[in-house]
Amino acid sequence: MNYRFGLIGYPIKHSLSPWIHEQFFKRTDLDGTYSIFEIEKQISFAEEMKKLRKIKLDGFNVTVPYKVKIIDFLDEMDEQAKQIGAVNTVLCKNGKWIGYNTDGIGYMRSLLSYYPDLDKSNDKRILILGSGGAAKGIFYALIHNGYRNITIANRSMDKAKQLSSNVPSGVAISLQQAEQTVNHYDLIIQTTSVGMKPNENSSIIPLRSLKENAIVSDIVYQPIMTAFLKEADALHSNIHLGHTMLLYQAQYAFEIWTGKRPKMEELDQALQKILEG
Ligand code: ATR
Repeated sequence: MNYRFGLIGYPIKHSLSPWIHEQFFKRTDLDGTYSIFEIEKQISFAEEMKKLRKIKLDGFNVTVPYKVKIIDFLDEMDEQAKQIGAVNTVLCKNGKWIGYNTDGIGYMRSLLSYYPDLDKSNDKRILILGSGGAAKGIFYALIHNGYRNITIANRSMDKAKQLSSNVPSGVAISLQQAEQTVNHYDLIIQTTSVGMKPNENSSIIPLRSLKENAIVSDIVYQPIMTAFLKEADALHSNIHLGHTMLLYQAQYAFEIWTGKRPKMEELDQALQKILEG
């Protein structure tokens, strides 16, 4: 079978997804293509979706700014995507478009592949920084994996409260409170865009009082070593790099489309090299 996958979004000309899926095809001995369908904002999205239906893809990814907009064009949605309210992967099967969100599961797969011991420690105290789409996906995946001790900190407290209220044990705090209580947490997950190029010198909160042996994770991958991770590294804490989430969420998408889970060995270093130019 010759699979046909794609990506919709804007701007996506420099997307890493075609490269990642090319590696997956090689690693699974499957044949296929992964194409970019850039949809400019002023163009009718509905018209573009009609055209996309005609192309008869086997599946496609959805990125900014269409992760919510795509929902109106789907036939079905999986539970995670419903919970998050956003879709980044569509399976096209028997004429139906089925929406998924691979952010949370991709993040968990990535985190556990680097820190497998976390799997057995559901009592870990976790701090999520941010309350956007990515934070939601990660929050639900953590809950799904049995973690209960989760605090959410966000610039807009109302959004943190709204997200944390979905579980009885959820706690919402301000970024200032997060800064003051950094030493409480075993795992800190940075999900905002703070620190992303070209603002690579900014960091969401200082980590000065970080607990010994804490794991500090940042989903930003441009740059790979964000200011936030640099500070954690200088404090000798364990770090978890953002580009690995990108790889594992793509792995999960590939699996939804083909039923095959590509091996990931050395892909992180290869992607790191590309990102570092
Ligand atoms: P995504 O889907 O990638 O998570 P998003 O839904 O736009 O993106 O969410 C962005 C997150 O980054 C939010 O938590 C946002 O905080 P607010 O809810 O207060 O807007 C956070 N964020 C973005 N820029 C920020 C900044 N300069 N300082 C603090 N938080 C910021």
